[in-house]
Amino acid sequence: KGWISETLYMYHGFWHLSGGVYSIETMMALQESFKAHPTDIYLVTLPKSGTTWMKALMFALVNRTRYKNNCRLTHPLLIFNPHKCLPFIEPEIYRKTPTYVDAHQPRLFATHIPYTLLPQSILDSGCRLVYMCRNPKDVLVSLFHFTNKLRDKSRGIMTFEEAFEMFSNGVMPYGPHWDHVKGYYNANLEHPTRILFLTYENMEKDTMNNVKRLAEFLGCPFTKKEEAEGAVEEIVKICSFKNLKEVNKHGNLRDDVPNHTFFRKGKVGDWSNHLTTEMSYILDQIVKEKFEGLDISF
Ligand code: A3P
Repeated sequence: KGWISETLYMYHGFWHLSGGVYSIETMMALQESFKAHPTDIYLVTLPKSGTTWMKALMFALVNRTRYKNNCRLTHPLLIFNPHKCLPFIEPEIYRKTPTYVDAHQPRLFATHIPYTLLPQSILDSGCRLVYMCRNPKDVLVSLFHFTNKLRDKSRGIMTFEEAFEMFSNGVMPYGPHWDHVKGYYNANLEHPTRILFLTYENMEKDTMNNVKRLAEFLGCPFTKKEEAEGAVEEIVKICSFKNLKEVNKHGNLRDDVPNHTFFRKGKVGDWSNHLTTEMSYILDQIVKEKFEGLDISF
């Protein structure tokens, strides 16, 4: 009775899809055969936490000199969905035709897999991880709209009450939300130099400074000259909601997933237009209890 797909399965404390690219089966295959490199960098998020934005930013930062110094190349983010520019690891294994294995370094990948279920190869390789989370109330609202855009219409429209019921019980792909966040928060405390822990809210509030921080973490800090020439602003602009939404107005990412579904409002706090006072109170109580003692605020 899951969100977009029919059924979700609980495996090692987290909800997973069954069958297809982003399934338990693929996760197990990754565990067996995915080979991480020490220079790899992985973006990890829960769905609807700003994955597409972060993919754009990481891709644009790491590749910035390539497109700056070659004016004959159109910047990929001006023509393609960010999901085309920075792949998830799952399709690399599922399709059995890895496209990215020996690409230039650092290799950039994304995944939604919880920390405790990451392929051992990623944990052992010493590579870096960027984790971005978002206020659970906004994740719920975003996932609710995404589901209704993509769900097979024969199953009917999901009501917000149904969405709330599932979400507050921890049921979402790769959820419970709070356990996913907590896993990476604690891993970040243990490995502060390997994991960069970001929130969507902070990223939105102070985009410039966070983008500079991200560039340093990715190993490509801005030089003084670049900063003076407005390189940070340029990247923020290319990756802005407004720009990406415009570029992705048409076309499909996959057969059944139109590009535009990844760009809805791009705002902090849209939950206040959806949750009743009671729903908000219930989620506040859950989050307060789950994040007790942790320095996480949205
Ligand atoms: P909303 O539905 O609240 O608008 P994901 O990429 O993890 O699927 O997350 C999608 C959410 O990120 C959507 O939130 C989407 O609008 C928002 N988003 C996409 N691109 C963005 C950008 N460049 N800046 C800010 N938010 C963005």
